[in-house]
Amino acid sequence: MNVLIVRGNPRKTGFTQYLVNRFVVGLREVGAQVTDVDITADEFSLKPCLGCYYCWLVKPGQCVHHDPMEKLLPVILNADVLVCATPVYYFAMSSQLKNFFERTFPLTGEGLVTSRMGILRNRLREPAKWSNKKFISITVGALRARDAYEPINQTFRLIADTLDMELGGQLIRTESHQLPFKLSKPITLKRVESAFHNAGREAGLTGRLSAKTVADAELPLSPDENYFRTYANIFWEHAAAMNSKSTNSSRLQAEVGASPDILMREMARCIDPKATARLRAVLEFHFPDLPRHYQLVVNQGACELKFTAAASPDLRVTCTTDIWVALFTRQLNVPAALRQGVIKIEGDKGIFTKLDRYFPPPPV
Ligand SMILES: Cc1cc2nc3c(=O)[nH]c(=O)nc-3n(C[C@H](O)[C@H](O)[C@H](O)COP(=O)(O)O)c2cc1C
Repeated sequence: MNVLIVRGNPRKTGFTQYLVNRFVVGLREVGAQVTDVDITADEFSLKPCLGCYYCWLVKPGQCVHHDPMEKLLPVILNADVLVCATPVYYFAMSSQLKNFFERTFPLTGEGLVTSRMGILRNRLREPAKWSNKKFISITVGALRARDAYEPINQTFRLIADTLDMELGGQLIRTESHQLPFKLSKPITLKRVESAFHNAGREAGLTGRLSAKTVADAELPLSPDENYFRTYANIFWEHAAAMNSKSTNSSRLQAEVGASPDILMREMARCIDPKATARLRAVLEFHFPDLPRHYQLVVNQGACELKFTAAASPDLRVTCTTDIWVALFTRQLNVPAALRQGVIKIEGDKGIFTKLDRYFPPPPV
C-alpha cells in the first residue's frame, strides 16, 4: 500500500507529532510504502493559493506558483491512502494543512459532476487516480467536548467527497494535554497509544480503520468536566514551570507523569466506598523533596483531599515523590521499599497494608 502522510502540525515536540509517529510505526510494520511529508517545515514552505484559476484557464493542471507543491501533486495522485494530520486551531485544521488542500486545485478542473454524497463537485483531471484512494484524518485538540470536533471532521468528510476519495476513517484525540498524565489513566492511555499504532497497521493493510480503533483513539481521559478543568490547570502549571518556549510533550510526559498532585487526586477519586464503608481516618502523605503535605480524609466511603499537614494523622507516610510514584505504579513493592529504608510509616500500619484495597487502581 502506497501511503502519503501529510503532517500539518507546526509544533514538532507536540502531541500530534507523538501520535502520528505511532501511526507511522504501525504503517511500516505491515510493509506500507510511506511518504512522510511535513508541510510545516521551512523547506516545504508553500505559497498560498491566489484563486487565480491559472491552473484551470491558462496552463491547465499547473499552478502559477513554483514551489515544493509541484513535486507533491504527482505523489498525491499515486498514493493509495492519503493521511492528513493536524492540531485543532479554532475548530479547524491548521492553516498550513488548509493551504495544502487549496494547492491541490490544479488536480481539479472546470465542469461539475455529482459526488458520492450527491453534491455537485468539480471534475478531477485524472478521475481513475482518485476513485480507489482512501482518506484518513488525524485530529488532535485540547478541548474535551466532542461536539467541538464536528466542524473539522465534517470539513475532512467534504474534502474526501469532493476529491472522490473513500473516507477510510477519522481519528480524533481530544484532551491532548492530558496525554502525559500517565498516573491518572494508565490503562486508557495504553489503549489510546495502541489505537494509533493499530490505526497505522490497518491503514497500511486496507486503508480503512476499524470502529474499535477509532473508538479507542478517542477514549475520554478525564472523568468529567471538573477533572478536565483541574487537570488542564495542572498541565499549564507544569508547562510554565518548565520555562521553555514551547511545551515539549516528552518532557511533560516525564514531569507530569510524576506529579504527586495528580497522584493524590487520583487516590482520592479511586477510593473504594465498600472497602472503606466503616473507616474514619486521616492519612497524611509527606514528600520532603518538594516539600509538600497532603491529607486524605476518609469518612465512611468518602474521601476528601487536603493540601496541608494533619495535626494528628492516623497514618503518616513519608517518602520522596519518585518512591511513591514507583509504589503506585507497582514498579516497587512495599516490603522492598521498607527493607531499603526509602519509606517511613508512622501510626496505624494496618491502614497502610490495606491501602491497595481502599484505593484500587484507577478505572479504565
Ligand atoms: C491558535 C490555537 C488555537 C487552538 N484552538 C483550539 C480549538 O479550537 N479546539 C481545541 O480543542 N484545541 C485548540 N487549541 C489547542 C491545540 O489543539 C492543542 O494544544 C494541541 O495539542 C496542539 O497540537 P500539538 O500538541 O501537536 O501542537 C488551539 C491551540 C492554538 C495554538
